[in-house]
Amino acid sequence: MCGIVGYVGYRKILSVLMDGLKRLEYRGYDSAGVTWPEHGSLVRVRTRGKLSRLEEALEEHRGTDSTAGLGHTRWATHGEPTQQNAHPHSDCTGELVVVHNGIIENYYSLREQLTAEGHKFKSETDTEVLAHLIEKYLQDDIEAAVRKALADASGAYAIGVLWARRPDVLVAARKHSPLVLGISEGEAFMASDVPALLPYTRDVIFLDDGEMAILSGSGINIRSVTTGDDIEKTVQQISWDASMAEKAGYKHFMLKEIYEQPDAILNTFRGRVVPGTGEIRLPEIGIGREVISRLKRIVFLACGTSWHAGLVGKYWIEKWAKIPVEVDLASEFRYRDLLIDQDVLTIPISQSGETADTLAGLRIAKERGSSIVSICNVLGSTITRESDGTVYTHAGPEIGVASTKAFTSQLTALFILALFLAKERNAMTDEDASEKIGTLISLPGIIEKHLPEWHNQCRDLADEFYTKSDFLYLGRHLQFPIALEGALKLKEISYIHAEGYAAGEMKHGPIALIDRNMPVVAIVPGDHVYEKMISNVEEVKSRRGIVITLGREGDEELKRISNAMIACPDAEAEINPFIYTVPLQLMAYEIALARGCDVDQPRNLAKSVTVE
Ligand code: M6R
Repeated sequence: MCGIVGYVGYRKILSVLMDGLKRLEYRGYDSAGVTWPEHGSLVRVRTRGKLSRLEEALEEHRGTDSTAGLGHTRWATHGEPTQQNAHPHSDCTGELVVVHNGIIENYYSLREQLTAEGHKFKSETDTEVLAHLIEKYLQDDIEAAVRKALADASGAYAIGVLWARRPDVLVAARKHSPLVLGISEGEAFMASDVPALLPYTRDVIFLDDGEMAILSGSGINIRSVTTGDDIEKTVQQISWDASMAEKAGYKHFMLKEIYEQPDAILNTFRGRVVPGTGEIRLPEIGIGREVISRLKRIVFLACGTSWHAGLVGKYWIEKWAKIPVEVDLASEFRYRDLLIDQDVLTIPISQSGETADTLAGLRIAKERGSSIVSICNVLGSTITRESDGTVYTHAGPEIGVASTKAFTSQLTALFILALFLAKERNAMTDEDASEKIGTLISLPGIIEKHLPEWHNQCRDLADEFYTKSDFLYLGRHLQFPIALEGALKLKEISYIHAEGYAAGEMKHGPIALIDRNMPVVAIVPGDHVYEKMISNVEEVKSRRGIVITLGREGDEELKRISNAMIACPDAEAEINPFIYTVPLQLMAYEIALARGCDVDQPRNLAKSVTVE
């Protein structure tokens, strides 16, 4: 997730670009850059780090009179967050530049092909291939060249293109990544998100997939990327205030991030799984087949929500790759007498890549000879730098302290990793892998479809239960970690005491807590432990506990014994952890909201825990 801003009109370019970038900084902040035309060529200024660094670097250009240009704030996906990898990226001549948000899936093969044709690459990014591809097709029609280049590229993009020979025109295009255009008399804007436009205009056009736009001071023309045909679009009026707009109209970042999960999951498997073939591509794993084939054990190291992701990953890896897995809390692992050697693969899981305990555990495992493959959301973070390889989650920046989209992206990365290991160790056929890939690919659509209904149901549940002081969450097998995660979400943002338990453990202690005041949240999909879960629910009922269940649509038996039930689609058992997580996040969110809590920044918590 990155932020793009573009402008052409009559205002001084630097203030429009910098103002817009500041409003989009929540989308990415590891490096930034701007470009504008001046005296027949393009000036390009890029810096590593936050926007304040870019502002300093622009001091000497304050006097520019240019009134067109592009800006970008980056959240790295391909290539470290360095100045060299910061956008805008240029072609060989430096006359054409591109800013991009998204992932070009076939960038590697395009880069090889363009290099063979004589193009010189200066960054490690996937974006730079677009600049060279456009250069390849460019004669005198920039729009046609962009169209041809995009026909060669697969993946996701929102792009802005500027060519020194047409300094009064910007070209934009979109496929699977957001881009909104703003219009006003004598000027036109593009941006990844509405907040960047609000100081100037409230008249916007949301570009759809497969559409491109030609922006100039005299207006905006929208065309089809494939055919070049004109497209009529409606101009919409935005009524949000600035803070609502930063959150795309959502009340909190947490809610926005819950709703972003279909995209975060898709971006994490995009380009790594090949439908219909069973092929899994993880070139970034950093360890070879010889290491994978001699593995005797895998150890997951993580804290909090990331630890819960590891608990789910254990089931997949043990089932599919047949490798024993231990899931360690990093804070415990580092003080244990460890049995770790070169036949153990250590997998630290961390959203931030900076968690002190996880990092310390990584270093100890490395000293003992273990290979390290991390799962992480932040490119270039310390954990990734100290790992042999990293399977990145492409969730984009997560601002809410409570982890939501990072968790389901970690599950996605683990799902893919488990299939990869199974294939490498010949423990799974192509056919079986292909079936699992198909199931994974269906997930974003399933979640997207059910989100609004789940949200409505969770609002009602919150009205009913927000005054309760204790909750118990129960699940079995793949849903046990999801019960832990549901309880963690509730306690961290609503300050209600909540515990997650393996349902079979209830009779060994927690059952003593159950009375008419105690809501018990039971996760009951139609899997092989369904009957066992039903018995647990009955045990709660017979002690007059309040039963809130999450189960299959149409499960009348479950509905009958529940005080309230959230219906979930009947999916393949292996993707249930993703599905059942989402309503639990929404329930925690709505309860916290009803209690008037600060959902995005709960008390005593930090987003990145860099102390022990
Ligand atoms: O950045 P990490 O994934 O290493 O952070 C680990 C935990 O601090 C984190 O998952 C925490 O539990 C969540 N913010 C809870 O929602």
